[in-house]
Amino acid sequence: MADKKASLSVDGEIVAELPILSGSAGNDVIDIRTLGGAGYFTYDPGFLATASCESEITFIDGAKGVLQHRGYPIDSLAKQADYLEVCYILLNGQAPTKSQYDEFKSIITNHTMVHEKLAHFFQGFLPDAHPMAMLCGVVGAMSSFYHSDLDIDDPAQRMRSAHRLIAKMPTISAMAYKYSIGQPFVYPRNDLTYAENFLHMMFSVPAEEYTVSPVLAQAMDRIFTLHADHEQNASTSTVRLAGSSGANPYACIAAGVASLWGPAHGGANEACLNMLEEIGDVSRVDEFVKKAKDKNDPFRLMGFGHRVYKNFDPRATVMRETCHEVLKELNIQDPLLDVAMALEKVALEDDYFIEKKLYPNVDFYSGIILKAIGIPTNMFTVIFAMSRTVGWISHWDEMLSQPGHKIGRPRQNYVGEVDRDFTPLKDR
Ligand code: SDX
Repeated sequence: MADKKASLSVDGEIVAELPILSGSAGNDVIDIRTLGGAGYFTYDPGFLATASCESEITFIDGAKGVLQHRGYPIDSLAKQADYLEVCYILLNGQAPTKSQYDEFKSIITNHTMVHEKLAHFFQGFLPDAHPMAMLCGVVGAMSSFYHSDLDIDDPAQRMRSAHRLIAKMPTISAMAYKYSIGQPFVYPRNDLTYAENFLHMMFSVPAEEYTVSPVLAQAMDRIFTLHADHEQNASTSTVRLAGSSGANPYACIAAGVASLWGPAHGGANEACLNMLEEIGDVSRVDEFVKKAKDKNDPFRLMGFGHRVYKNFDPRATVMRETCHEVLKELNIQDPLLDVAMALEKVALEDDYFIEKKLYPNVDFYSGIILKAIGIPTNMFTVIFAMSRTVGWISHWDEMLSQPGHKIGRPRQNYVGEVDRDFTPLKDR
């Protein structure tokens, strides 16, 4: 809906009249789709001020620290819903009735097994392969199992792909872990909840009974929810761009896994814990804060800062509470938590971090919780990817359900050579 216009004038001459569109919340957007016709492109490396799409899935207000999924505030969802209910909400647009929830839970539960042949893919990896490398490869290979169900223009086939991915990501993730430690894969169990099943597949062994701790399962479920979706972040934008070419959903999710792996994005939780371990003791916190402020030092405080949140990350607030609950319940005195708390205190009182609005983000506390649960550091981003799969696939489905969706094709500001004469090698 456009009832306002922006006029673009160059040297006093109006070259374009651009409609201004208003959403249901957040900034208005200037519709620049006709700008190419006027001979101009916009220039916005990193897309700091660019809306790439219209979406109804997640709203973030970075200044106010607001995060809502389909309009529901993240802290309500994290404390009053389980991850599967959040998956339903992200995929379908509203909270389910009890019968809708039960049906959805049954569908997901009954898709958790993977084809036996899929297990063979792991044998090609070296034992020390990073689990994220395995996840990238195996998720992409999933498309080879569903040739007859990849019509992306069929909403029913899209939803079946979504269900398969949500259901199988924990199984594949746990398989990557088991392969990395030389233990046999563990089959999912239909009598367990989503989070219980993941912990069961991660930690049970054939030699003895494994009882899932309800405290750990609840913490795991909350971590899944807090990582489920986050608007047009780098990995979600990667999935959308890959999907815009008509690529199959498994290939698109594999692309999202690859993008999330970077330490500036989902790899930050692994990097954050490694940083806390490198700091090692509260007495060294000031030394590292000094490094983070030194423009000549590439070191950054992992788990701090955010492209959008310039106040606080509401997920970090919930994660911090969960962190204390888990460590208290497990009676764990983790010196890394002391380091994290000291780092947070120093950073939040330091002018540099206040001025640059660098607050703890979702990754700052998640690593400490995951470590307390017994998850190895190299599995942290795998868990982030597993949790974010529902967000990725919801955006992929939303994009493909929108009429007139086109292949994404950004342009550039070309600054290279032009019109050069070419001399053949033999004459040079
Ligand atoms: C996630 O987009 C999403 O929604 C992502 C995510 C999701 O759910 O999908 O929320 C998940 O990726 C969370 C972010 C996890 N990453 C980290 O914790 C890595 C550490 N953080 C930084 O790399 C950084 O803060 C980013 C990448 C997260 C955001 O960077 P911006 O907004 O692009 O800001 P910038 O890199 O331009 O930095 C602005 C200034 C710079 O100083 P100046 O050049 O202005 O002098 O702040 C400084 C930076 O040097 N800065 C930091 C810092 N982060 C930014 N200085 C020290 N430590 C840091 N962590």
